Amino acid sequence: MLVTSVGKLRLERPGMVASGIMDETGPSMMRMLRSGAGAVVTKSIGTKPNPGHPNPVFTELKAGYINAMGLPNPGIELFGEEMAAAAKAGHIIGSIYGSSPEEFSKLAGKMEEYGAAAVELNLSCPHATGYGMELGTDPAVIRSIVSAVKSSVTIPVWTKLTPNTHMIKDLAVAVREGGGDAIVAINTVKAMVISPQFGKPILSNKFGGLSGPAIRSIGVRAVFDIRTAVDIPIVGVGGISDWKDAVQYLIAGACAFQVGSAVGTKGLGVFDTINLEL
Ligand code: DHB
Repeated sequence: MLVTSVGKLRLERPGMVASGIMDETGPSMMRMLRSGAGAVVTKSIGTKPNPGHPNPVFTELKAGYINAMGLPNPGIELFGEEMAAAAKAGHIIGSIYGSSPEEFSKLAGKMEEYGAAAVELNLSCPHATGYGMELGTDPAVIRSIVSAVKSSVTIPVWTKLTPNTHMIKDLAVAVREGGGDAIVAINTVKAMVISPQFGKPILSNKFGGLSGPAIRSIGVRAVFDIRTAVDIPIVGVGGISDWKDAVQYLIAGACAFQVGSAVGTKGLGVFDTINLEL
């Protein structure tokens, strides 16, 4: 009943853990698989170990979270240790970030070697200099990165797009032209929160990515827009915390969905609850 497919990847359950939450270690990823997630997307991994930004990197708002962790991760070589058992336990989608087609291809090859069921290209982090959205708002750059990765791996290549653009349909067309297997929409919305007491931005990076209920309607609109532009599979993400949120994305044109912030606000039971409700 809940079975779905994202292109060639069959999922027993349509909800996945979105990149960035409970997905940095093998045991946490396996715990999410046991908690009813159909797949887990890893925290975005780069070529070298990265400590990320200094604190504060995260704050909670009325309708969501805002964070600028700074893409902290152990680097692709060490991340193999986290993938080893997890990739045997279920579908792990390897999220990767790089600054060039060559870097993305190398990272994707490693994720395939580690047993990832697919890779998700982070072309949409809203605040990283030289990475993410800085690359992923240019259709020509998207096309060259997606096609380079496609020629380096045999597993499906998904691309996570940013909503921080007026031309998301053009970005989606670029993914299709590059041979991409699926689009994941949306990543976080570039945002800022200022402490009135301290008179300065709360995050050390000043800007961060807004997630949670505040961005749900932006995500649903983006999926609807993308569906009118291309006919490849879309995975919906942004502010999903119950079955009604998920169904909005499915009606807009997604075949599966991801849950991120609600793992924090509702706890690990959120997948079992959504699966039951659906
Ligand atoms: C970070 C990365 C993202 O892709 C995002 O949407 C928000 C934050 C980060 O690691 O800083």
